[in-house]
Amino acid sequence: STLGAMPTERTFAMIKPDGVRRGLTAEILRRIELKGYRTVGLKLYQIPRETAESHYGEHSAKPFFGELVDFITSGPVVAIALEGENAIAGWRSMMGATNPANAAPGTIRGDFATSVGENVTHGSDSPESAQRELALFFAEGELLK
Ligand code: TYD
Ligand code: MG
Repeated sequence: STLGAMPTERTFAMIKPDGVRRGLTAEILRRIELKGYRTVGLKLYQIPRETAESHYGEHSAKPFFGELVDFITSGPVVAIALEGENAIAGWRSMMGATNPANAAPGTIRGDFATSVGENVTHGSDSPESAQRELALFFAEGELLK
């Protein structure tokens, strides 16, 4: 049966500076491990401004772009490469809605986020984004085979 068959994917996950500052790193990594995703890359990283502008390039014309780049470069993040079945949508489901006002209890943003701007985690939204973001944040040698 093909019922339930899902592609093995890699996705880019990130604990944003608010999550690191608030001491949520271990809790978020715990949830990832319990879910069963394989961590194939992991590092504490101070994002250079140019990298942040490229990462969020799709939002460059939005009114919140400047604040978004200021925020994401305001302190170290934890950059994570995840692998697993349906990992792209699955990780976004674990994060919950972008705006914590709409994020369900039990999701990371629903449980911890304080505002739409400071919403604790990032996750790629498509296979194309995942490939682009993983390449932006990790050198080839930093990812497990
Ligand atoms: P977006 O890609 O829409 O959300 P997601 O992180 O769920 O993929 O937006 C990127 C980030 O931009 C979002 O996590 C927080 C910030 N943002 C704002 O600050 N204000 C906004 O109105 C929106 C839509 C996003
Ligand atoms: Mg997005």
